[in-house]
Amino acid sequence: MVETKKNVRYIINIENTGETYESADGEHLLVGMVKLGRKGIPSGCHGGGCGVCKIKVKNGKYRKLTLSREHVSKEEESQGFSLACRTIPESDIRLSAVGQFKKVVTKSYGFV
Ligand code: FES
Repeated sequence: MVETKKNVRYIINIENTGETYESADGEHLLVGMVKLGRKGIPSGCHGGGCGVCKIKVKNGKYRKLTLSREHVSKEEESQGFSLACRTIPESDIRLSAVGQFKKVVTKSYGFV
């Protein structure tokens, strides 16, 4: 966690690539991913509707905005699956991109 006078920023680690980025307090996880400026990080609907930003949170505290059951089942949610655009970090986070999101996140790193 990085604390400045203005706000708290959490350190987010993308396990698939080893990348880290900072996420401002109250900002959903996809905002920081898009700011990485890499090809392959999709900027979808940012509202939980398209399901393109599916992740699994491996470690850390977070709160979720309403998730579409079309993209994240209740069982998956209980296992830490979420959508990056519906997940607000409340601590440093370690996550994995999953499904289609994993393919695009890792593609430009040659992991696929
Ligand atoms: S960007 Fe569409 S569900 Fe996250």
